[in-house]
Amino acid sequence: MQFSGDKHIKKEKIAFPKNFFWGAATSSHQVEGGTHNNWSEWEKKNANRLAKEAGDNWNLWQKAHFPEMFEAKNYISGKACDHFNRFSNDFSIAKKLGHNAHRFSIEWSRIEPKEGVFDKKAIEHYKQVLRDLRAKGITPFVTLWHWTNPLWLTEMGGEENRKFGRYFSRYASHVVRELGAYADFWITLNEPTSVIGSAYMKGAWPPQKKDIFSVIRVFKNLSRAHKLSYDEIHRIQPTAKVGFSNISMYIEPFHRFSPLDRIMARIVRHFANKEFLNLTHGKNDFLAVQYYFHKLAKFPRGLSDGSGITSDLGWEICPKGIYYILKKMKKYNLPVYVTENGLADADDSRRAAFIKNHLYWVHKAISEGVDVRGYFYWSLLDNFEWDKGFWPRFGLVEVDFLTMERKIRPSAWEYAKICKNNGFEMIVKNRHI
Ligand code: FCB
Repeated sequence: MQFSGDKHIKKEKIAFPKNFFWGAATSSHQVEGGTHNNWSEWEKKNANRLAKEAGDNWNLWQKAHFPEMFEAKNYISGKACDHFNRFSNDFSIAKKLGHNAHRFSIEWSRIEPKEGVFDKKAIEHYKQVLRDLRAKGITPFVTLWHWTNPLWLTEMGGEENRKFGRYFSRYASHVVRELGAYADFWITLNEPTSVIGSAYMKGAWPPQKKDIFSVIRVFKNLSRAHKLSYDEIHRIQPTAKVGFSNISMYIEPFHRFSPLDRIMARIVRHFANKEFLNLTHGKNDFLAVQYYFHKLAKFPRGLSDGSGITSDLGWEICPKGIYYILKKMKKYNLPVYVTENGLADADDSRRAAFIKNHLYWVHKAISEGVDVRGYFYWSLLDNFEWDKGFWPRFGLVEVDFLTMERKIRPSAWEYAKICKNNGFEMIVKNRHI
């Protein structure tokens, strides 16, 4: 550690452990294009409504900067980034940016378009994807379910169907039998509690319910899906490493000394961050942490954002939150991967600092004994952000959705330096980041 003239400013060398995984993440529905699933159907029915409601949902700055939010076509995933056809070119970009790992998801609706009927061409496609990554020296982390269901399953109630777990593990075992030779890291489910919250509590995502019984059912069915597929994957590939990715919010009481705010913070923390981990106890080979939010719990009003710099979506940027989340993972004694962390930043004015500052705190958690082994920025590409559509720009790489042209953002090169050097130097001022 080096100290400069001002005793409150110091230069710290932030070095990550050997063999650390550096990369970015995507998901099938958000980047591939041409998907036919519960979301693509829902988009067609809801695009007009979402465009109309944009006026009430966003602030003046957002409305002025992203007028595409008022157009119905913003809410139709359609061709997305055409990554289905351009994956090899996109992985060449990732390689150029020094990534040695990549997280992507397999689209269930392509693999099993009809119940029990598995599509050979779709498997062949993902084989090519995995071969391409391997040939470029990029380790794949494969997600099996990033929120999209095949339509036959949607018609049967999707996640609410009692047999969801059995259907899912049958699909998972098919994929691992076919593709296990190319991948060791499997993420069964992406952020189960985000779906539970947004689709079954808030009623914002398909199937737009607000029903406590559905919430309980889906918790049960998704955790069963994880556990069954965990066993199934290990039966087929004993060396596999299996986990699920968990949204982890940094939740504080609004008033530090208010007992009610504190109780509320605890309850939210429990259901958002911990419950799914408890339900799948003993069936995780690693923990996959996804961090975006710092929230303040105020009784009885609910959750609000803290103050400070925000992303284009208005999400507060709070790097130290990732440290508190990671510290809580220590007691599980498992390897940890940060499988998503990122921001919407169309003019790329905050992204480089965002990444560095979060990594500073990831490193601090490592230096205090948390076994973090990888970091995946969300996302490699600008993509389709669910019910918000195309306007939030999360990519290290900018995408022109008309021409499909890719442009590497300056922050991507900053991140590339970190990936290539396995660390960076940071000027730290009183540790206030
Ligand atoms: C995460 C999702 C991912 C993306 C980012 C912004 O919760 O897993 O698909 O939408 O948020």
